[in-house]
Amino acid sequence: MKKNRLVSALQKLAAAGAVVLAAVSLQPTTASAAPAPVVGGVRAAQGEFPWMVRLSMGCGGSMLTPQIVLTAAHCVSGSGNNTGITATAGVVDLQSSSAIKVKSTKVLQAPGYNGTGKDWALIKLASPITSVPTLKIAETTAYNSGTFTVAGWGGTREGGAQQRYLRKANVPFVSDASCQASYGSSLVPAEEICAGFDQGGVDTCQGDSGGPMFRKDNAGAWIQVGIVSWGEGCARAGYPGVYTEVSTFAAAIKSAAATL
Ligand code: ARG
Repeated sequence: MKKNRLVSALQKLAAAGAVVLAAVSLQPTTASAAPAPVVGGVRAAQGEFPWMVRLSMGCGGSMLTPQIVLTAAHCVSGSGNNTGITATAGVVDLQSSSAIKVKSTKVLQAPGYNGTGKDWALIKLASPITSVPTLKIAETTAYNSGTFTVAGWGGTREGGAQQRYLRKANVPFVSDASCQASYGSSLVPAEEICAGFDQGGVDTCQGDSGGPMFRKDNAGAWIQVGIVSWGEGCARAGYPGVYTEVSTFAAAIKSAAATL
């Protein structure tokens, strides 16, 4: 089992009503400074990625509409009414007094999700967040190449603590053939898109799941091409990050959002 979806442990804690961030902070820490989170990244500026959302079960997400967050299927436990998730938006600092916090009302996990591929889900919020913009999703494969940006509050190294401040990094596209050479039949090439450096060092990591991988489109606007899904460890040489291929699911995501 190469898939490293450590967030499932966080989900269980969240389901049990535990405070995920507190739980994570109980992990032993070392004195060495962790440079990034997203491994190998740097802090994002306030307002740089205004559609980024932190979800209370320990995942990331992006604003699809003012009232719907796009995240990963493995961050949620099914579909239906759910008032147990809090979305935090509008801030890079999760402890900021200006953070916008809104509870969920419903969750829609990708139809047919069984742990392999199809790693997307929608979270309906109790009220729209109108003070932040939405992030456009890629509806064609046109932007499934080049250099992508990833961002999140996840660990800055394998086993590392969740972060208070949003971090970002850039990672290059990795072809299906190359990614399959790393992951074999664990990869679902039609549903997943990989990114990372051959030598490793920069990647998303535990707690970044559900957050967007994005780039600029030809008009200079940010467009989401991936959803943080899984990888073998984090930032290891020869093991790129694996992301849900948003273009594959854009039509399904849009029609599902219309039903929420
Ligand atoms: N599954 C992880 C999460 O739940 C994300 C892992 C991403 N791993 C990677 N090497 N890119 O947060």
